[in-house]
Amino acid sequence: MIDDGAVPRVTPAGLLHRPRRLRQTAAMRRLVAEHRLHPAELVLPMFVREGATEPTQITSMPGVVQHTTDSLVAAAREAVAAGVGGLMLFGVPTHRDAIGSGATDPDGILNVALRAVRDAVGDDTVLMADLCLDEFTDHGHCGVLDAQGRVDNDATLGRYAEMALAQVGAGAHVVGLSGMMDGQVGWVRSALDEAGLTDAVVLAYAAKYASGFYGPFREAVESTLQGDRATYQQDPANATEALRELRLDLDEGADIVMVKPGLPYLDVLAAVAAESDVPVAAYQVSGEYAMIEAAAAHGWIDRERVMMEALTSLRRAGAQIILTYHAVEAARALSRPA
Ligand code: PBG
Repeated sequence: MIDDGAVPRVTPAGLLHRPRRLRQTAAMRRLVAEHRLHPAELVLPMFVREGATEPTQITSMPGVVQHTTDSLVAAAREAVAAGVGGLMLFGVPTHRDAIGSGATDPDGILNVALRAVRDAVGDDTVLMADLCLDEFTDHGHCGVLDAQGRVDNDATLGRYAEMALAQVGAGAHVVGLSGMMDGQVGWVRSALDEAGLTDAVVLAYAAKYASGFYGPFREAVESTLQGDRATYQQDPANATEALRELRLDLDEGADIVMVKPGLPYLDVLAAVAAESDVPVAAYQVSGEYAMIEAAAAHGWIDRERVMMEALTSLRRAGAQIILTYHAVEAARALSRPA
């Protein structure tokens, strides 16, 4: 009881601290927000299909298409105009073989697309290339196979080195090593350096899990994979192992490290961010996107609200860079006056 002489007021004992004070208006909440998103840290993954004459919708990823080279260039310009920080390109070839020849062919679809986008947008954005063989192999694995049909780690490294040279030669600023082969970062780094490509940035998928959340992506790239990637991608049960992968990638010279998928692995992301002295990225993968789109299409969630909440959660957990299929839309939402 406080007696101020006039109106008796009751102050509950011990309620000196009232966190709600800082939540009372939108302006107050904005002032004290601990994390905020910015378009510049969003990266848009994009698909380009060899021989396509018009963009094709990916059924399980509403709003995402397989581009023609021309529509890719147009969409890349739009993304840059919207302020996104980077583009990550994936190629869908018409022809696949055992060693993924299309990945290293300068006329392979991904390399052609990189050249076209780099010609169009130059250094106005950061152009990234997926460095993995799975889209280009007829068996759909991320590496070449040995005589027993197992993924041959060391033989794959040579293919990755060639692929890196082809991608950087075609205009990629960043190569995104997503294959989860042991030693891939060091191997690609030295191949680039020996070729004088010391400026090429290596983004390492340090912790990439063998995840069911990649389902829609498999449709997007028309994956031919039989079986799974459990002998090279990480077991979803493991977190400490991600720190080992991180340490190896840092020791091998990774410039940026990534955790993937995003939302189901926020603990891993936070642990990696706490240890890493290079920028940390998170990939909000196709299944995460599809879940938001599907629930929103049913009217079960507020699409834009959940989109921003998911991205903010990745930021809060420690991602400085976020790969998301919502990049352009989120960038536009962030650029709207409050
Ligand atoms: C491999 C690769 C995959 C994804 C990105 N790079 C698929 C896989 O590992 O099976 C998945 C991305 C997504 O689901 O959005 N090249």
